Amino acid sequence: MVMNKKIGRVYIKTYGCQMNFYDSEKIKTLLINNGYEIVDSPEIADFVAVNSCSVRKHAEDRAMAFLSSHAYLRKEGKILCLFGCTANLHKEKLLESYPFIDIICGAGNYKRLPEILATATGGISCTGDGADPFIEELPVPEGNISAFVTVTKGCENFCSYCVVPFARGRFLSRKPEDICREVEFLTAGGVREIILLGQNVNEYGKDTDMKFTGLLEKIHDITGIARMGFLTSHPKDIPDELIRSFKNLPKLYKHLHLPLQSGSDRILKLMNRNYTLGRYLEIVEKARDTTPDITITSDIITGFPSETEKDFGKTCSAVEDIEFDDLFVFKYSERTGTAASRMKDDVPEKEKESRHKIILDIQEGVSLKKNIRLTGKTDSVFVVKTSSKRKGAFLGRSSGNKSVVFTSHSSTPGTLETVVFNSADRRYLFGISCGGNKK
Ligand code: 5AD
Ligand code: SF4
Repeated sequence: MVMNKKIGRVYIKTYGCQMNFYDSEKIKTLLINNGYEIVDSPEIADFVAVNSCSVRKHAEDRAMAFLSSHAYLRKEGKILCLFGCTANLHKEKLLESYPFIDIICGAGNYKRLPEILATATGGISCTGDGADPFIEELPVPEGNISAFVTVTKGCENFCSYCVVPFARGRFLSRKPEDICREVEFLTAGGVREIILLGQNVNEYGKDTDMKFTGLLEKIHDITGIARMGFLTSHPKDIPDELIRSFKNLPKLYKHLHLPLQSGSDRILKLMNRNYTLGRYLEIVEKARDTTPDITITSDIITGFPSETEKDFGKTCSAVEDIEFDDLFVFKYSERTGTAASRMKDDVPEKEKESRHKIILDIQEGVSLKKNIRLTGKTDSVFVVKTSSKRKGAFLGRSSGNKSVVFTSHSSTPGTLETVVFNSADRRYLFGISCGGNKK
C-alpha cells in the first residue's frame, strides 16, 4: 500500500466515447475508496484531471484546450493530470509540449493512480499496457437506472484510420465473473438497464472460454435487469448466433450498431475493414429476416484519403438503400501513427464537410420516414425519466432503443411500460401509455 498518502480532492473532466465516461467513473470509485474526494469544480480541487479522447482530432483538441485554459491553476499549487487515450498515444512527448502537465496516465495504469497521485511531484508519465487494465472496484450506483459496463479493452484490428489500437493497446476480454459481479451489484443498487461496451464485442472471449452470446445470456438471467444492449459490433466477424440473440433474448434491445464507414469497396479495402458492401448487406438482411423490427445504426467517415465523387456516391446510395435508423457521420481526420496517416489526406476540408452534410441530409429523411412507420404501433418502452419540458410526459427508450416521449398518469423510471405511438419526428417517437407490463 502507499506510504505517506497525500489525500486530496480530485476533479475529472471527461471527453469522448461512453468507454471514457465509464473509465472516469471507475477511476473516481477507485480514488474514493483510497481516501480521495471527488469534487465538481477545478477551483476547489487539488488535482485537475482530463480524461481525454483521441479518436478524432476535434475531441483531442478540446481536451488539450481544457487543460491549457486551466494551466493557471498550477500557480495555486494544483496538480494537472492527463488520463486516457491522448496520454497513452503521445506519452512523454506531452510533458515537453505541454510543460504545465504534471502527471500523464494511460488506461493501462489507472489502478496505480491512488499511488501516483499520492506521491505526485510532477513530470510523471505512466503509459503503456498495464498487466490488468480492468478496475474491478465496484461502482457507486448513485441512484442511476442505467449503467455502462466494459467487457473488453483495447483493439488489434488496425482499421487504417483508427488510433484506438495505439491508444488503448492490446485486446483483452474481462472475466465473465467480474462482469456479472458488477452487473449484480449495479442491479442491487437499482440499475435496470445495462449497456455492455467493447470496441468490437464480437471478439469477446477469443482469449477466454465464454463467447459474447454466452455472456449476453448470462447477464440476461440476472434478476432486476429490464433492458440490456451492447456497442459495438464489427461487420467483419459478427457471428450468426449474435444476430439470433435479438430474437432469443427478450430483454435485449433490438438494436445493432454496425459501423459501415463507407459504401465503396475500394475505400473499405484502404480502410482495412475486411468486408465489402455486399457482405455488409448480407448481414443487414440476415438481421432483418431474423428480427424484422430491429433498429440498425451505423458510422460513416467522409473524405477518407483518395475518396472520389464516385466512391462517395456509393456511400450515399448505400445510406439511402439500407435505411439506417440513425447514423453518426464523421469527417476524416488524420491520426498520427495510423496507416492512413501515411496516405495523402487529399480530400479538401470543404469537400469533407459538404459530403458530411449530404449524408446527414439523406439520413434526416430516412430517420423521419422510419420513425413515422412506427406510428400506430404498440411497444414495450423502458421508462428513463420524467420530462423536464412537458408536464405529465416521460422519456423512454423503445424496444429498438429509439428515444420516446410519452404521456402517462404515473410511470416509474426503470420499469417497462406499454406505449402506443401516435406521432414521430426525426428524433423521437411520441405516444401514450397503455399501462405497465412485465416483458
Ligand atoms: N477520422 C474520422 N472518423 C473516425 N472514426 C474513427 N477514427 C476516425 C478518424 N480518424 C469514427 C469511425 C468510428 C467512430 C467511433 O469514429 O466512424 O466508427
Ligand atoms: Fe478502431 Fe477498427 Fe478497432 Fe473499431 S475495430 S476500435 S475502428 S481499429
